[in-house]
Order: sequence, then structure tokens, then C-alpha cells
Amino acid sequence: MYTLIDGKKVAGEIKQEIAKEVLKLKSEGKKIPHLAAILVGNDGSSESYVANKVKDCKEVGFKSTLIRFDNTISEALLLQKIFELNADKDVDGFIVQLPLPSHISEYGVIEAIDPAKDADGFHPVNIGRMMVGLPGYLPATPFGIVELIKRYNINTSGSHCVVIGRSNIVGRPVSILLSQKGLDATVTLVHSRTRNIKDIVRSADIIIAALGSPGFVTAEMVKEGAVVIDVGTTRVLSNETKSGYRLVGDVDFENVAPKCSYITPVPGGVGPMTRVSLLRNTLLAATKS
Ligand code: GUN
Repeated sequence: MYTLIDGKKVAGEIKQEIAKEVLKLKSEGKKIPHLAAILVGNDGSSESYVANKVKDCKEVGFKSTLIRFDNTISEALLLQKIFELNADKDVDGFIVQLPLPSHISEYGVIEAIDPAKDADGFHPVNIGRMMVGLPGYLPATPFGIVELIKRYNINTSGSHCVVIGRSNIVGRPVSILLSQKGLDATVTLVHSRTRNIKDIVRSADIIIAALGSPGFVTAEMVKEGAVVIDVGTTRVLSNETKSGYRLVGDVDFENVAPKCSYITPVPGGVGPMTRVSLLRNTLLAATKS
């Protein structure tokens, strides 16, 4: 029988810890953490991610500001807003929700963010600090995955961990964190050009699926007793939910779960942990100076 990794529950516990910290800051007359989010356009997934981030801030007692722009905003104007937020003493951290419209350079924008306010941990300075094991802001999803693994006491030392997907915000950074001293996994990163993906995944003790392809990981690709972390969050139309959409993971949960020792559900696995990591980075930004 497998253990379901309950990201929602763990995230709830961490949110309580953060809310306590906020009360302590308040009682000491210190500043309340303030997270700002920039949302460009009205992509459905981005809308719901950002709405949830604002809701999370409220829940733990942070201040939050949502700044919206039309899809047609120029890169220059967006950069101007970023420089304003960099200079705004009241804002401790901020994020620019991705993806951005194709006329705007994503990395141009990310590099404009003050690394000290980079709550997403996407700036090359923070990625570089993570790479060499220096303290800094960690990218939210990898940070959340590592925290889940730790809180469930899953042994990573010497384990073969296969990461599927090489995105800058999940696959690549999580592969770095897992191979670091302390976690000590042996990491293989596979992607769309990898030969023998199925054989490689089948040899994994821990599988991190982060490619955004619903049901990609099937039972025949999973070793008995493996740990499976599903990062996929593809939105598909559904007439069973209020929103009209449901989230689908990268793992064929129904058939894979019986082979696993631990597995995350979608939704309720990695997603809530990503959101809580953003709160942790914001708290760090507000309290470190
Ligand atoms: N788009 C998808 N995930 C993320 C995230 O964690 N941060 C931002 N800024 N955009 C995203």
C-alpha cells in the first residue's frame, strides 16, 4: 500500500508556522511582509495562480498588491514598473507571473528584478547562489518538492532520482538541489531528446515528473516501491468543477499509485507547496535585513 503525500496538509502546517511568525513581527512592532505580483494579460492559469497567491498572503497576514497590465503593455513600461517595485521600500518581494506575451523578453524581465526582492528565486544571481549552495531565494516549486520529501522523511541519500523535464523553473533547479550535499541523490535529468526514457525512468528510486504532459508516466515505467512526485498541472475542461476546469498531472495516478511507496496527487500535492514556498521567500525577504 502506498502513502499519499498530502501537500495540502503540509502546506497548511507551514502556513500556520508563517502566520505565527507574522503575529510575532506585529507584536514586536516590526513591518508586515509585503508581496507584490505583476500579472500581464488574462491567461486562465495565470489568473488562478495569482489569485491563489493573493489569497495565501491574506491567510498568513501578509500584505499583498496585485498589479495588472494589458497583454499589449510594452517591455519598457513593464521594466519601469519593476524598477519602481525595486525602489519601493514597502515591498519586500515581488513576482512577475509567467509566461509573458511573446513580444516581451522573459529573461530581460527576470534580470531587471532586484535579486534581494526576487520572491520566485528566478533571477540568475539566486539561481547561481543555489547552484553553489549559498543561501538565497530558492525557486518555489523545487523548494516545495524538497520540503515535502524532507517532511515525509523520504531518504534521498544515494538514491537514483530521475527528473523528467528541463525547465528553468522546475526540472533543472530541482535536479541541482537533489544532488547537493545533505540530500545526496544521484540525479539523472531526462528530456524530450533523451533516448530510452522509459528504461531510465524505470531504474529510478524517485521520479520527479515535470514535463507538462498529462499521464506521461505510466505504470510500466515505474519500479515497485518508487517514490513519485507529480509536478504536472495541465488544465483541461471539465463539467465536474465550478471553474469548468480540472488539473491533470503528468502521472497516470490510478495505475502508477499501486506500485509506489509514496506518491503525490494532483491537485493537492506539489501545487500547494509551490505557493507556500513563495510565502517563505517573502518572509525571508522581509526579515533578513
Ligand atoms: N508560472 C508558472 N509557475 C510560476 C511560478 O512559480 N512563478 C511565476 N512567476 N510564474 C509561474
